[in-house]
Amino acid sequence: MVKICGENVLVCSAMIEIRNIQKSFDGRVVLDNITAVMETGKCNLIIGASGSGKTVLTKCMVGLFEPDSGEIIFDGKNIVDMTDDERKSLRRQIGMLFQGSALFDSMTVEQNILFPLDMFTKQTTAEKLKRVNEVLEKVNLVGSNKKSPAELSGGMKKRVGIARAIVLNPKYLFCDEPNSGLDPQTSLLIDKLIHDITTEYNMTTIVVTHDMNSVMEIGHHIVYVHKGKKQWEGSNKEIIFSDNELLNKFIFASDFLQDAKQMRMLGAKKG
Ligand SMILES: Nc1ncnc2c1ncn2[C@@H]1O[C@H](COP(=O)(O)OP(=O)(O)O)[C@@H](O)[C@H]1O
Ligand SMILES: [Mg+2]
Repeated sequence: MVKICGENVLVCSAMIEIRNIQKSFDGRVVLDNITAVMETGKCNLIIGASGSGKTVLTKCMVGLFEPDSGEIIFDGKNIVDMTDDERKSLRRQIGMLFQGSALFDSMTVEQNILFPLDMFTKQTTAEKLKRVNEVLEKVNLVGSNKKSPAELSGGMKKRVGIARAIVLNPKYLFCDEPNSGLDPQTSLLIDKLIHDITTEYNMTTIVVTHDMNSVMEIGHHIVYVHKGKKQWEGSNKEIIFSDNELLNKFIFASDFLQDAKQMRMLGAKKG
């Protein structure tokens, strides 16, 4: 898909297509023939119960695992067919927020965010520090440069993780369980931040989650995985009206939510 951005005609398609992905560990199938498209400029959610294969799927997408078969196509090009240089350049376009933030505890906030800049760029120290301050501003942490991770709350750590993930201006952003360990309100702030950054920079963002608030808040495109198989794909609005039994059991897990869904559907019918 080619997208035209802004006034200048600029091709900025950055979608990811996964086709027929198969992955087993020791003969046990973990991903079974998954096909999906991760759309540009959107938060693409991968949802499913614990152990359903979400992390393995994202690791296949970023090249940390090699699928047994299938294609992973970034911007029209299959990873398997890429040269080493092309893979390297793709790697530079991918930002990752790991489960649990994964900050370096012995480094300050600033040093953590400098890390990818030191590794991938030849910018001067002044240029790098300017960029660190820009992303700190983006995640509302101006002035936290010299703090150590131990001094930060869970939500702040995630925000530093996001700042580090976007410091190289990636086209693709992967967030694995960005809300794990956070209270519902902080979770919403993190979701909103990921969403705003995605639309502002027209990134292709993949969020792995089992947080239902996220699904309803930022789930414009959702891929539901159950026991390694894609069971459903659609938007947060479509979930309410879906009759996929597995999806309904997963999303509307409690009797209370089942009733709420029924009421919402009846309300919609009455119009
Ligand atoms: N490196 C690995 N070796 C063997 N099995 C693995 C490995 N990574 C994940 N698995 C298995 O793959 C399945 C899916 O795991 P995962 O993708 O982490 O689930 P999720 O992220 O949906 O909770 C699980 O049964 C898990 O035990
Ligand atoms: Mg996981």
